[in-house]
Amino acid sequence: MYPFQIKTKEAYHKSYQQSIEDPETFWASVANHFQWKKKWDKVLEWNFNEPNVKWFSGAKLNITENCLDRHLEKNANTPAILWESNDPEEHHRVLTYKELHFKVMQFANVLKSNGVKKGDRICIYMGMIPELAIATLACARIGAIHSVIFGGFSAQAIADRLQDASAEFIITCDGAFRGAKDIPLKSVIDDALVGNKTVKRVIVCTRTRTPVSMIKGRDVWWEDEIKKVETLGNPDCPAEIMDAEDILFILYTSGSTGKPKGVVHSTAGYMVWTNYTFVNVFQYQPAQVHFCTADIGWITGHSYIVYGPLSAGATTLMFEGIPTWPDAGRFWEIVDKYKVDILYTAPTAIRSLMGFGLDYIKGKDLSSLKVLGSVGEPINEEAWNWFHKNIGKGKCPIVDTWWQTETGGIMISNMANVTPAKPSFATLPLPGIQPCLMDENGKEIEGKNVSGNLCIKAPWPGMIRTTYGDHDRCKQTYFSAYENKYFTGDGCLRDAEGNYRITGRVDDVLNVSGHRIGTAEVENAINMHAGVIESAVVGYPHDIKGQGIYAYVIHDGSHGDPNLTKQDILQTVSRIIGPIAKPDKIQFVPGLPKTRSGKIMRRILRKIAEGDTGNLGDTSTLLDPSLVDVIKDGKIN
Ligand code: WT7
Repeated sequence: MYPFQIKTKEAYHKSYQQSIEDPETFWASVANHFQWKKKWDKVLEWNFNEPNVKWFSGAKLNITENCLDRHLEKNANTPAILWESNDPEEHHRVLTYKELHFKVMQFANVLKSNGVKKGDRICIYMGMIPELAIATLACARIGAIHSVIFGGFSAQAIADRLQDASAEFIITCDGAFRGAKDIPLKSVIDDALVGNKTVKRVIVCTRTRTPVSMIKGRDVWWEDEIKKVETLGNPDCPAEIMDAEDILFILYTSGSTGKPKGVVHSTAGYMVWTNYTFVNVFQYQPAQVHFCTADIGWITGHSYIVYGPLSAGATTLMFEGIPTWPDAGRFWEIVDKYKVDILYTAPTAIRSLMGFGLDYIKGKDLSSLKVLGSVGEPINEEAWNWFHKNIGKGKCPIVDTWWQTETGGIMISNMANVTPAKPSFATLPLPGIQPCLMDENGKEIEGKNVSGNLCIKAPWPGMIRTTYGDHDRCKQTYFSAYENKYFTGDGCLRDAEGNYRITGRVDDVLNVSGHRIGTAEVENAINMHAGVIESAVVGYPHDIKGQGIYAYVIHDGSHGDPNLTKQDILQTVSRIIGPIAKPDKIQFVPGLPKTRSGKIMRRILRKIAEGDTGNLGDTSTLLDPSLVDVIKDGKIN
């Protein structure tokens, strides 16, 4: 079924070797198994200095033909999407490949009739309903560039992203259900659009029946627009012919500066990479049910709910809700109900469910499970063991998949039942991936049992092409720290067998519940509060979230009750970024430890937040060393 699916450890080593020795032949042989309108002239052209990376140049294709049309002959009635509501009582939905194909074409026609053209940017801000996948694929069908924004981001965050991408269209819902909450998505969009000059049309899909205000000439209902195209008769929407390197989507992610960047992925390479990694890492077999618990608003959802599984003709399960509502048995109930084969989730979810005890697993039949997966942050051994024993019943391999928004798909991971797992290690690079560890002086660290900054030496098909509208930023962020290498921002260790263990970010980026949050972004948001003079944000170990957000704030005393101010600061961060970026702890401080040149010594703040105050290192270069004791004494536990 999948000619390039690797079946044994030996075959892995052989493929790996081939992929490094002759990448062009290797990837051409993989790419041959996709549907092209025209094949490539050249498999790979690259230079990391500009950077300029082109895979399959000259090729013409449409990714939706690979995700939909090509499955119709044999698998028209295979379920493409299984959808489970937030509400366990609401009937689930099944969309076969035939139905999904139909709905994507239908909505693609809606987009066209609303004036969307190839290359236009469309922002999608929806909850986890099948229409989100339909909207995403409909954009790809006509060559429009989607920019999906997670439903937890605030109006301000959306406004910034709309502006950065100069988006002209928005697809949203009246609201979204998440656990006991009902999030008024359309109303958030309305706030984001105050002062916006580029957006011409907002298409609103009905979900929650939350009252919304529809602005004349700008806002239309999804359902009405569908009816309009229906009356035109022909539901077909031929796939736009795209160049291999045409942009497929933009996805915003945080970095070490205050402004999120639009990571750009192109069409052919991303398709080949998500499909190849999906089929190999999870060892997907036809008719299996794949359940990735991420939201499509993040890269994990793009690659392993939508494009990877659908391009492989798989059945992908979309879940609207959250793991702990109505109770902490929700995932297990879903596994039982749909006989899930592959469960791909995040360590933070596992740790949180662990805390609820084993009662929620009792009576749930998990025997359909064959493969478990983890992504987003290092999985600690305790969570690994719990997952392995209680969910996998000791017989399911766990794939620990390391990758990033920028890498498009999984980079370092064991492959289920093919290469061995090692708890807390992502283990081995996939074919095509050449990791290396670098020291501070830009020298590669060779050998075993060593650690350094993780870089990648050569291009892979799914890699970032640029940061939208600012190519130089892409170069500075990823290709300038080390010559001729892609810098991941992660620290990493390599053991005696060549297994890699990611040790966490080495830049000012936090990983909170598997979400990337830049400290500078949170600081900017905090500083917007009228009662704040200055702030510094660091991470600290958090039992469930992996990292928590610790904020040191210089508070303007004239603004009254400090406890109220703390609440107000949280409110401000929610408003500027979204609730996911709210600090877990706020400490008011009289000053921040700075060097004589005015640089904040974050190292010291990090140590204090971590509770590791025994050895703060050299504090003699501080402008005011006595400040450190004051901050230590005021630490929030
Ligand atoms: C950062 C990327 C890629 C999907 C989700 C997050 C961390 C991701 C692992 C893992 C250790 C991991 C890294 C990486 N990370 N997976 N298996 N083990 N760390 O995407 O938001 O782009 O974040 O997540 O620090 O750089 P993202």
